[in-house]
Amino acid sequence: MNSPGARRIVLGVSGGIAAYKAAELTRLLVKDGADVHVVLTAGGAHFVTAVTFQALSGNRVWTDLWDPSMSNNMAHIDLTRGAQAIVVAPASADFLAKLANGLADDLLTTLCLARQRAGLDGALADCPLLVAPAMNRQMWESPATQRNIARLIDDGVVILGPAAGDQACGEVGQGRMLEADELFEDVISHFQPKLLAGRRVLLTAGPTFEPIDPVRGITNSSSGKMGFALARAAHEAGAQVTLVSGPVSLATPRGVARVDVQSARDMRDAVISRVQGNEVFIAVAAVADYRPAETAQQKIKRSRELRTLTLESNPDILAEVAALPRPPYCVGFAAESENLEAYASAKRISKNIPLIVGNLIQDGLGADDNRVILFDDNGSTPLAPAPKLEIARQIVAHVARRIHPHR
Ligand code: C5P
Repeated sequence: MNSPGARRIVLGVSGGIAAYKAAELTRLLVKDGADVHVVLTAGGAHFVTAVTFQALSGNRVWTDLWDPSMSNNMAHIDLTRGAQAIVVAPASADFLAKLANGLADDLLTTLCLARQRAGLDGALADCPLLVAPAMNRQMWESPATQRNIARLIDDGVVILGPAAGDQACGEVGQGRMLEADELFEDVISHFQPKLLAGRRVLLTAGPTFEPIDPVRGITNSSSGKMGFALARAAHEAGAQVTLVSGPVSLATPRGVARVDVQSARDMRDAVISRVQGNEVFIAVAAVADYRPAETAQQKIKRSRELRTLTLESNPDILAEVAALPRPPYCVGFAAESENLEAYASAKRISKNIPLIVGNLIQDGLGADDNRVILFDDNGSTPLAPAPKLEIARQIVAHVARRIHPHR
């Protein structure tokens, strides 16, 4: 059951084989707490039935502009009034053509034309409309479709995708609908305040790996989850994001440019060569403090009885960035097993950075949730325990307030 304050989303499903992905999108939105109302076109109903969407959304599914069971016959108006967004996935070439030209001959096109929602002050405002095109590559590339897309962008419609790849018709090219999880991420991202719009953010995440020989090395335990969540949150906030990541098995957040590295020195070089032009640098990586003085080119045999490793110090990437002549706003992380406040504050001073995020290792390492305290010139700000993405959004909001105190 949906909670009373749940985000209401109208999900339009037009005719296309990608309609099956809309079932998964419904599930993901509902799981995230949204109240999803599906409007199925006649074409869409050829691919997935209303029963499927009804079962997944827990709400009745709308298919007919002339449905007599609707007390006032005003579904095309009422459905969007309390909605935070209309998402159409898949959006067929035919649907996009109708939308671009203001045609309204079925429920979905009519409600898109009449799309309004109650604003904060009770006044009516346009309900955001996000569409995910899905069609054969030639249909997508055709001048008519491209004209329609350009007009829709001009009208303020958000176009999600399409992606390139294998198509149901056997051809390969642009026109595939985004996957359900990608659409979900884009839709959720749309709702986040654009606190870092136009800003550039550089991050490090994950562990580093310092090779001893081709199969062995020194590393830190770090899942990369907090750094990836921050990269996602910064992108959601409208920033252009570059994420320099050590070896982790995590998917790259949508819209984030990722650079994969192994060792601390690779990470340092990747950061230093990209840092210029970034307003914010967030060092989340658990960088290995030391590396072997020598790396064997061949696998070391047990018979060699290697018992002692000579180590060298790795560069401190964050301290180096903070010491640049015009450094970005630098954010560090301090994962401690005790004395969090004292150690994190000392680290902030020694690295000469404006903000450090402290957490106790037992509260967050490898987990999906975290509990952190932010330390800056204004003192300490504890955040309530929450999923890492939630924590990341709050850190991004904190950073945005610090770099634009007057917004
Ligand atoms: O010095 P310590 O490792 O405890 O500091 C942690 C912070 O410094 C983190 O933000 C981490 O990403 C960053 N760091 C770094 N380069 C290092 C060591 C730590 O950027 N060599």
